[in-house]
Amino acid sequence: MDDLKQKYLGQIAEADDESALESIRLAAVGKKGEVALKMRELGKMTPEERQTAGPALNALKDEINSALAAKKAALADAALDARLREEWLDVTLPARSTRQGTIHPISQVSEEVTAIFAEMGFSVAEGPRIDTDWYNFDALNIPGHHPARAEMDTFYMHRAEGDNRPPHVLRTHTSPVQIRSMEKMGAPLRIICPGGVYRADYDQTHTPMFHQVEGLAIDKDISMAHLKWVLEEFVKAYFEVDGVDLRFRASHFPFTEPSAEVDIRCSWEGGTLKIGEGDDWLEILGSGMVHPKVLAAGGIDPDAWQGFAFGMGIDRIAMLKYGVPDLRAFFDSDLRWLRHYGFASLDQPNLHGGLSR
Ligand code: PHE
Repeated sequence: MDDLKQKYLGQIAEADDESALESIRLAAVGKKGEVALKMRELGKMTPEERQTAGPALNALKDEINSALAAKKAALADAALDARLREEWLDVTLPARSTRQGTIHPISQVSEEVTAIFAEMGFSVAEGPRIDTDWYNFDALNIPGHHPARAEMDTFYMHRAEGDNRPPHVLRTHTSPVQIRSMEKMGAPLRIICPGGVYRADYDQTHTPMFHQVEGLAIDKDISMAHLKWVLEEFVKAYFEVDGVDLRFRASHFPFTEPSAEVDIRCSWEGGTLKIGEGDDWLEILGSGMVHPKVLAAGGIDPDAWQGFAFGMGIDRIAMLKYGVPDLRAFFDSDLRWLRHYGFASLDQPNLHGGLSR
């Protein structure tokens, strides 16, 4: 029995894979293995012999089985170690810059805008792109019969007959987030909301989906002067220049009173768009003092608080800053265009390091 033990424990120790172990198991403790054969010989023994040989054989069987199990576990560990050695990856290494993907100019500009307004104390708010017509229109003082509803070229969500939920629209501007932010945070309040908006419109400066950034500041004694200062500071920081010509034009929006649209001086000469020169103007935003009815719709007392608001076209200011003449190219998903106009994925815009490197 000692010989059997030596033999099999030795083989087990030397086995170097699972199939070798399995052959050893069959030869040693399988139904027709050597230990089983020995067990059969017990019948020919005297009762005394059997009394010592029986337990000894069982002990041998146990010992071989546990040696097999231990070796099996050790082989599995070794296989895992080998795999870990083979497939290791140092996740702390700096990422390799890829030539495939770049940050889309719209994402880049949204980050730049956020960095600038954050410095002026504005936090970022969000709202749904599919919203009720109450948030998109009524709460903003645009009742059902108002011409602005028609002018916005609104996409309405389809409703099955008999579906009585309130009408939903693809938001036509980021202004509904004004109402949602007032409801959520009350006054005083200072937020921007960058995001996608939708209107049925398509030409060189219009696409059915585009991007705006809404701004809203509510406090005591806020005036048009604050609005003007904030926008001028923004434009200087964003275009990374000391000054650009801005034109404030008296205008009308149902949700602001008074209202102004702001244009920026530009030139389209030779098919390239340049800011700060030329005799053309590109409208970049609408703005004004928040209408008392809008404050009330947001649950804020218009006798105690005032505010200014603006809605700026992100795509427009991206075209101006990065010289993109056709807005439609932004949404063509053309990789060559993205490689030309895109941004390195690891450069985060901030005011200290420079917005656009
Ligand atoms: N929501 C307006 C638009 O989309 C812009 C705007 C926002 C005007 C806030 C005034 C105040 O044209």
